[in-house]
Amino acid sequence: MVQLHEMILRDAHQSMLATRMRTEDMLPISEKLDQVGFFAMEVWGGATFDVAIRYLNQDPWERIRKLKKAMPNTPMQMLERAMNIVAYRNFPDDVVKKFVYLAKKNGVDYFRIFDALNDLRNMEIPMKAVKENGGHVQACLSYTISPVHTVDYFVSRFKELERMGTDSLCIKDMAGMISPQRAYDIIKGVKDAGIKIPIVLHSHSTSGMTGMAYQRAVEAGIDVLDTAMSPISGGTAAPATESVVAALQGTKWDTGYDLKLLINIRKYFLKIWDKYRHLHRFNALKVDPSVTLHQVPGGMLSNLIFQLEEQGAHDKYREILDEIEKVRDELGYPPLVTPTSQVVGVQAVMNVLHGRYKVITKETKDYCKGMYGKPPAPIKPEIMKKVLGPKWKDEVVDCRPSDLLKPMWEKRKSELKEHGVKMTDENIMTYALYPQVGLKFLKGEAVAEFTSDKLPLPADHALIRGMVKQSFPEFKQVWIETESPENRSGPAQIPTEFEVEVDGEPFEVKVNPVGGFLVAGADRAAAQEKPKDVEGGVKSSMQGTVLSVKVKKGDKVKNGDVIVTVEAMKMEQEIKSDVAGEVKDIFVSEGDSVASGDLLMQVL
Ligand code: CO
Repeated sequence: MVQLHEMILRDAHQSMLATRMRTEDMLPISEKLDQVGFFAMEVWGGATFDVAIRYLNQDPWERIRKLKKAMPNTPMQMLERAMNIVAYRNFPDDVVKKFVYLAKKNGVDYFRIFDALNDLRNMEIPMKAVKENGGHVQACLSYTISPVHTVDYFVSRFKELERMGTDSLCIKDMAGMISPQRAYDIIKGVKDAGIKIPIVLHSHSTSGMTGMAYQRAVEAGIDVLDTAMSPISGGTAAPATESVVAALQGTKWDTGYDLKLLINIRKYFLKIWDKYRHLHRFNALKVDPSVTLHQVPGGMLSNLIFQLEEQGAHDKYREILDEIEKVRDELGYPPLVTPTSQVVGVQAVMNVLHGRYKVITKETKDYCKGMYGKPPAPIKPEIMKKVLGPKWKDEVVDCRPSDLLKPMWEKRKSELKEHGVKMTDENIMTYALYPQVGLKFLKGEAVAEFTSDKLPLPADHALIRGMVKQSFPEFKQVWIETESPENRSGPAQIPTEFEVEVDGEPFEVKVNPVGGFLVAGADRAAAQEKPKDVEGGVKSSMQGTVLSVKVKKGDKVKNGDVIVTVEAMKMEQEIKSDVAGEVKDIFVSEGDSVASGDLLMQVL
């Protein structure tokens, strides 16, 4: 018998609906889902935590409590990013342990734990914590294709994970590119090695061969397959649950699930799919075999397209995909999954926009230093030199990265006290994981995003900005102003009703300009009449939000000093002065958005 692990409440909507499914979409169908008899339901972790507090104004802790109560017969599973927990960077041990304790207490039964680099040292602490709290550990290896990721590589690491005490194993094929033969060889290898605990295959339909890979995995003795209910399946999501159930019916691998019950559940999720129709993307529904070459997971691809649009560089898409392949090889073949997918992706964008390794992100530096863990293969000295400088050897650490971090829990706790929010352990954890976004949420300042039944949108919504750009290509930027730009040259006020095409279909869009006038123009900074250039002007090399200004008026700076940090493409980027002298004037402050080429300060 093969069992299924159902993904619709986590990975499926993360892959196809930008993780926007809400608690109230899940609860009405929970009782029925609970009757199926799934191996487990993945309902928590991954990006769901971040998105719930950032875009949905929902408490993720409340969600897991309610789901656990509504599905008492099915194990509740979460995806845990080892020392990154449900965020994008390493946390110290005390926070990881506390998180596991709280997750278990609030309703998580199974913890699927993965490390982007398959550095088992990063998995030890969360694995131990799960065991100590009475949970089920499902240790996971990130799947990738490279000269070092052989069948032996996976089998020997799975053996090691079994020795470390995991209750089950999982191959995490996040990009959906595992081939039928490869799936067969790895599963067969695991079984032949005498590993007795259950093994799960997690994949996505992206490459078009996943159904075949699932069949071969079944033949090799797989215990559990990851699937998602059909309304949010296929394409960049997992293969459809009902299809796999039907395919195995009457064979010795029959799941024994009630197909009628599943079809009933399907009807419910068709309505949920429609509730988020503004997030549907035809590309995400299609097969894309090129994933086997560039290896970029579907979620990262759509992110990349959006980020390139922001940087005004969407014409560089193909070039960047090729560069991602190159950078990945040069950095020692890291599997592309959060957070290494961002490290490689953003560095590739920088390489294409500014020349190879001319601009190096803080994250690439950290990666090369070993701050994410040990890269699967050694990085060549010439790349290390480019990234870390001639003394690169002194910068590399070989300990477990979190050993370098100081305990953080008590510090975050006393910080949060100052803000007058309710001091529960769950709230402190939300704040520890996401200090800015978490605090905004806890203070009640987060605003829930719209759904398709709530269109039209407020004018400053990213979707509207994108649509306006599409309808008025002559305007490069769109923004909101409190005053009409009528009497100024350059920017123009945009009409509030227009038609756009989405994937070839015309849409009538009505904009509701909340808080001002919708304005478009060639260059927002110029339109707002900031100085464009001055003598000794230092400009931003990228589009983003100013995180901090590192100097003040009167400071002396050298060529190469960091003067401003900017958050661009979800990462912190340093902007360095390309001149030496005294800071005469500063034109930006924390929180400002800057475009590439905007004037930051004057240094003379
Ligand atoms: Co996945």
